[in-house]
Amino acid sequence: MKRVLLIIAALFCWTVHAADYTNVVVPRPLSCTAVEGSFILTSKVVVRAESQSLVGAANIFTQSLEPVLGKMLLVKKSTPRTGAINLSIDSTLEAEQYMLKIVKAGVWIVGGTERAVFYGLQSLLQIAAASDAVKGGVELNGVEIGDKPHFEYRGALLDVCRHIFSVEDVKRYIDILALHKVNKFHWHLTEDQGWRIEIKRYPELSEVGAYRNETLIGRNRHSKVYDGTRYGGVFTQDQVREIVAYAAARYIDVIPEIEMPGHAVAALTTYPELGCTGGPYEVWTRWGISKNIFCAGKESTFEFIENVLSEILELFPYKYIHIGGDEAPRDAWKKCPHCQKRIKDEGLENEHQLQSYFMERIERWLNERGRSIIGWDEILKGGISKSATVMSWRGTKGGIAAAKLGNQVIMAPNTHCYIDYYQTSDPKANGEPLGNGRFPVTLRKTYELDPYLGLNEEQQKYIKGVQVNLWAEYIATFDHIQHMLLPRLAALAETGWSYGNKDYDDFARRMHILRKLYDKQGFNYAPYFFNGIE
Ligand code: ACM
Ligand code: ZN
Repeated sequence: MKRVLLIIAALFCWTVHAADYTNVVVPRPLSCTAVEGSFILTSKVVVRAESQSLVGAANIFTQSLEPVLGKMLLVKKSTPRTGAINLSIDSTLEAEQYMLKIVKAGVWIVGGTERAVFYGLQSLLQIAAASDAVKGGVELNGVEIGDKPHFEYRGALLDVCRHIFSVEDVKRYIDILALHKVNKFHWHLTEDQGWRIEIKRYPELSEVGAYRNETLIGRNRHSKVYDGTRYGGVFTQDQVREIVAYAAARYIDVIPEIEMPGHAVAALTTYPELGCTGGPYEVWTRWGISKNIFCAGKESTFEFIENVLSEILELFPYKYIHIGGDEAPRDAWKKCPHCQKRIKDEGLENEHQLQSYFMERIERWLNERGRSIIGWDEILKGGISKSATVMSWRGTKGGIAAAKLGNQVIMAPNTHCYIDYYQTSDPKANGEPLGNGRFPVTLRKTYELDPYLGLNEEQQKYIKGVQVNLWAEYIATFDHIQHMLLPRLAALAETGWSYGNKDYDDFARRMHILRKLYDKQGFNYAPYFFNGIE
């Protein structure tokens, strides 16, 4: 009897062991099979990159692995060998598809491109952090993973306007995206409360538009208390180039957002003549929606925006430019003789069509230069061109409407993807720091996003992907940014990468394992989910 019990116990341990330490990767791989044997990863193991183009990805991997292993592995350009971590390209695989094999003789990662190999390395990093420590290193259980993403677009927005973060912080944000195989960084750069990118032609933007006189303390609407401290700053073009290159090395495209026609008070404070009334304006010190927006009647507005975008195009090589389009009240346009003349001259019916005129004019200008636009779902009102991509944020209804029109869509509904919202159902009792109190977006809620809901098979083809948005009204420190980002980014990543293969309970199990890596990397993730609080 005792022997039988021992055998049952041994079998149980083996299966738990296999389940816990083999199938650990977030986002969940397409296939993951335990195989015989294990590989001991010590600091003596060499990462062998078959081509020079893989050395960059290998070096980033060894840097990320250092806190796990305590040592930095050596990277060599070399053909595969036993006893090593071997990286190679197989161009018959898809661009983001990789295979990862861990056996006693070594580790092999083969990807369709360098990007795909980089993803295989992120999986290996997660497996290494989850694995048992043994003398001199960690023991990686035998496994074969075959993996590729469902959606081509997996994004995260960072708002550096309401609060600004350092270059090092932004790089850290990009590191966190990379670990989760998120491949788009949406960088929100202009706002009512601050202009955050140096434009050589308009140096006053960095001196005037980049600073507000003070900042509201506490919740918008409830508070009338200000801190009395001047606040602001910009990213210089050199810093922007550094960040774009850092992201590119991690296979992340950077999408700058230059807001128009609304959320423009910082620009209008700098150049009041670009507003309908001519001002004066003041860089906003509180949050919300300003009625002061760019004048759509004056030619000088379009000259300014095109000159700004000319410099943006030099800095950001990715095809897509986000031109905002959200929350632009029509009040000033209704009273403005220039805007009313534009409506008449262009044969427009109303101010909604005037916004369409505005967005389509800028879109055409960008199209002529080989670029495409993304806009918030408000751009649908008044009509949009076929080539505009719609980012659905007021729920999914805008995205559904756009997909039905045959426009490309990115789903970022506030119901699931606004990670500036609280993350538990009782923020006060759970000690959450001040956040956007609209409604809670728990980890489970983010996970539950179904970007195809309400669309037939034909319409689903227009869903390019998904994104979380991290607005920073209430977030003044990068520690707080991380607290909002993690672990909810992981849930978004799993929808983006593993759609069709999702299972919340299994995700929750893997998150408890991934937490070890978060700890080793020093990420300041939110504790609620890990403490059983939703
Ligand atoms: C938005 O949250 N106003 C896009
Ligand atoms: Zn006007």
